[in-house]
Amino acid sequence: MNKRTSLLRTPYTVRICHWLMVICFFFVAMSGLSWFFPSLNWLNNLLGGPQLARILHPFLGVAIFVFLLYMFFRLVGHNLPEKGDGKWFANVGKVAKGEHVEELDTGKYNAGQKLLFWGIMGLISVLLISGVVIWRPWFAPLFSIPLIRIGLFVHALAGVLLMLLIIGHIYLAFWVKGSVDSMSSGYVSRKWARTHHPRWYRQVTGDSARKERS
Ligand code: HEM
Repeated sequence: MNKRTSLLRTPYTVRICHWLMVICFFFVAMSGLSWFFPSLNWLNNLLGGPQLARILHPFLGVAIFVFLLYMFFRLVGHNLPEKGDGKWFANVGKVAKGEHVEELDTGKYNAGQKLLFWGIMGLISVLLISGVVIWRPWFAPLFSIPLIRIGLFVHALAGVLLMLLIIGHIYLAFWVKGSVDSMSSGYVSRKWARTHHPRWYRQVTGDSARKERS
């Protein structure tokens, strides 16, 4: 990695956390889907069959929550809402077409990424709380049957919403060329940083992005 042409965007511990969480998420999502439709039952073989999948699913779910909690504390400072976020949403059409909108002056994460961040954190909290309510044999006996029914519905709904959000996240991660470097090596090119996150680029380098682009 040439440090003269690259910038560290994601530190090692955050990257490890992200990828361990992705592995757990894959197995939890697959076992969850296996209980949705009889035709998808075979997916629970990925976790060693129906009984083992039923035991492991909640423990892996808790692991995802713990990994995300670490990411939350490391990244929340860059994902707080700002005045310019509304402007980003107003220009989302141009951003999607790959047009450069100078006035956006995006920081470390754009408004769409922030929305994803809070969406993931919110849904994972709902999944944890509803998951505890329906977790047999440990916690479910502490709650009434109507509450367990509500818990099951909320858990399934939040699970589907999170999977849809993650499909969008993966699509965008590959669609914006160079983004995956941020979570693999941790380094991104200076050009990528100047183009997509000019304010963050100026903060970490002290350079003027506008000056360098011209
Ligand atoms: C193959 C699957 C995945 C890929 C390729 C991927 C890729 C990425 C990349 C490239 C970033 C950094 C973006 C940047 O620096 O601008 C990122 C951030 C992140 N990812 Fe993923 N990801 C995947 C799955 C997941 C899953 C399953 C979750 C959660 C359940 C997740 C949660 C996050 C979070 C919370 C961030 C930080 C975003 C922010 O702070 O605004 N990712 N991911």
